[in-house]
Amino acid sequence: MSNPSLLILPGDGIGPEVMAEVKRVIDWFGDKRGLAFDVSEDLVGGAAYDAHGTPLTDETMAKAQEVDAVLLGAVGGPKYDNLDFSVKPERGLLRLRKEMDLFSNLRPAQCFDALADFSSLKREVVAGLDIVIVRELTSGIYFGEPRGIIKEGNERVGINTQRYTESEIDRVARSAFELARKRGNKVCSMEKANVMESGILWREVVQKVHDEDYPDVELSHMYADAGAMQLCRWPKQFDVIVTDNLFGDLLSDAAAMLTGSLGMLPSASLGAPMANGRPKALYEPVHGSAPDIAGQGKANPIACILSFAMALRYSFDQGDEAKRIETAVEKVLADGLRTADLIGEEGVEPVSTRQMGDAILAALD
Ligand code: NAI
Ligand code: MG
Repeated sequence: MSNPSLLILPGDGIGPEVMAEVKRVIDWFGDKRGLAFDVSEDLVGGAAYDAHGTPLTDETMAKAQEVDAVLLGAVGGPKYDNLDFSVKPERGLLRLRKEMDLFSNLRPAQCFDALADFSSLKREVVAGLDIVIVRELTSGIYFGEPRGIIKEGNERVGINTQRYTESEIDRVARSAFELARKRGNKVCSMEKANVMESGILWREVVQKVHDEDYPDVELSHMYADAGAMQLCRWPKQFDVIVTDNLFGDLLSDAAAMLTGSLGMLPSASLGAPMANGRPKALYEPVHGSAPDIAGQGKANPIACILSFAMALRYSFDQGDEAKRIETAVEKVLADGLRTADLIGEEGVEPVSTRQMGDAILAALD
């Protein structure tokens, strides 16, 4: 059997800097764990625009459709701010998401013990936290018709439509249940079935998918506003939360901040299963290209490294190996290593991107 394939798209700004550390981690798994990948690398965003006049070439797009998983750094930067909208770096990323039809966006909120005091919440509320929010990404109120600003009598009316088909709910629910089976086997679905018809349908379809195909997974339902309160009150009650595009946007940003720095946050966007059973998949850190620190060797590579750990868990069924990375990260943080973004008041000397990568590799050994 051939090795699983990975397409690496470092992108712009700190993207290539953090991805350089991920590549060393990938090599480590090939050398030390017999887990080799066929890795190819290409350009995206401003880097692709500089080379080809487009933020994503058709060849790269085709390649992304073929591989088992795509790993992306970040795109964008001030250099490209004045480009025409059609060739802006972000368009490269948007095209990937759209053409791969990545409808399921996974945003973990995971608290590393050594950073628990970094959270705005009390240590006991966040220590050991490990949850994932699954946000529907390609439908709902950001896309529904009718939309617009219309004139009604003497005033204008702004309109957006929350719209979900059964099949859209069905597929994101499946994605959440599949995920739960690789984790704590528990899903909480959030909507507003008390005041929205789309929420009534959402709840019904999620329950049906559960009863028919995932009866082994524990399912609960919660109104999204109550869910927001519970996330702040006692987030550890959750394992996987599945919700729509709008609520997911808010809840995932809030949940991410339970645990601290942007430099620590990975994400995944999944689509339909391919012929080999693996979902179409794009893994990337939540942060952007950080032009303010790009080229200075200061960036925290952990978000990007944890994105690769998510790929191991969710694309390649290597949950134990993913855990190995997370344990290594936990260890270097416990040893007191901090990139500049993780330093609060106390006068700790920050380490560079490369030093953090070195330490994580040493901890893996
Ligand atoms: P940003 O996430 O790039 O940076 C926000 C702040 O966090 C900056 O102070 C930055 O130095 C810091 N930061 C981010 N990642 C870090 C890391 N790994 N280690 C240490 N510090 C880190 O967001 P910003 O400044 O709003 O956007 C900068 C550029 O990135 C823009 O061109 C924007 O369009 C693009 N962007 C791209 C994204 C993507 O590729 N998915 C997502 C967000 C923004
Ligand atoms: Mg948002």
